[in-house]
Amino acid sequence: MRVFVVGGAGYVGSACFRWLLSHGHDALAFDDLSEGNAGAVPRDRLVVGSILKPEDLKSAMFRYRPDAVMHFAAAASVPESIKDPEFYYRLNVGGTRNVLETMRMCGVTTMVFSSTAATYGLQPVMPLTEESPQSPVVPYGRTKLAAEWMIRDYCRAYGMGCALFRYFNACGADPDGNFGEARKNETHIIPLVLYVPLGLRPTFRVFGHDLPTRDGSCVRDYIHTDDLAQAHQLAIERVRPGDERIYNLGSGTGVTVLEVLRACERAVGGPIHHEMADPRPGDPAVLIASPARAVRELGWRPRYESIDEIVSTAWRWHRSHPRGYAGDRGGVG
Ligand SMILES: NC(=O)c1ccc[n+]([C@@H]2O[C@H](COP(=O)([O-])OP(=O)(O)OC[C@H]3O[C@@H](n4cnc5c(N)ncnc54)[C@H](O)[C@@H]3O)[C@@H](O)[C@H]2O)c1
Repeated sequence: MRVFVVGGAGYVGSACFRWLLSHGHDALAFDDLSEGNAGAVPRDRLVVGSILKPEDLKSAMFRYRPDAVMHFAAAASVPESIKDPEFYYRLNVGGTRNVLETMRMCGVTTMVFSSTAATYGLQPVMPLTEESPQSPVVPYGRTKLAAEWMIRDYCRAYGMGCALFRYFNACGADPDGNFGEARKNETHIIPLVLYVPLGLRPTFRVFGHDLPTRDGSCVRDYIHTDDLAQAHQLAIERVRPGDERIYNLGSGTGVTVLEVLRACERAVGGPIHHEMADPRPGDPAVLIASPARAVRELGWRPRYESIDEIVSTAWRWHRSHPRGYAGDRGGVG
């Protein structure tokens, strides 16, 4: 299949992009490089453009004529979304509308969308299934839920089909150490921990230390980007017009922030400086997925089973690329 990968130079999008190429599909990345990296995808397969500019989307999609669209482009920082909700609604909701409208114009009927565990909000019952109530407590989660609704409405009205993936904590790197996480404004736990032994940050802040969890820190569900990519491939091969498939993508296992820190210390081979801080607003104490539906319906078989395995791929990448994809900006228009 020919897959148009919106946000394809980003962390998860580029992992999916590479996975598609190595599993018999063709792909074109579309990205404005606001957070992504040209070096994460082959230069001749990247179009630099913005989902906020319908004309950029239109010219790229009409030229490529894809069979399916995967949509990863979004702003995804919870604290930033609380400070600047207008930008989040404009990009995550308005930008998604532009992607859907361009698909309609081009006659593309398959959409795979990156949603998030943040759409569930603070739920008392774990693990979360796709039937758990969605009650997001921060603007980021609300914009993603609004985008889910819009995509489903488009599917019903305009003969499209979709898979909506609610990721839990995406993490890890290409096992060969050549590609990995490299944002301009990093907010994700594993890179933030590993930047300390690399000398890029003085300390790691553990947000939340007296929560009702086994060691007082937040529990999250960590899933390797290659496992996410496998689910995306399975989805584009199965989605048909009229489908509204919804899947949680997580491991089904909860790991605390302090356990991630210890795994990083084992990978690095020494202690990592850290300090305790208060929890951030809107941060649930525990988030764990039930991935049963994706396993059952898609035949999804996640390969990474332990946080140590995941962290060791991340450490290989960060150690060999402490500045990320430095100097690798731009692409072909
Ligand atoms: N990383 C996680 O743990 C996680 C968890 C849940 C959901 N998600 C969702 O997965 C998706 C990908 O996340 P990620 O971690 O890879 O983020 P990322 O920031 O690395 O990737 C997003 C990409 O979108 C691009 N982009 C942003 N604005 C754009 C615009 N106007 N036009 C074109 N491209 C634009 C960025 O340059 C970047 O390459 C996001 O939608 C996010 O909400 C991620």
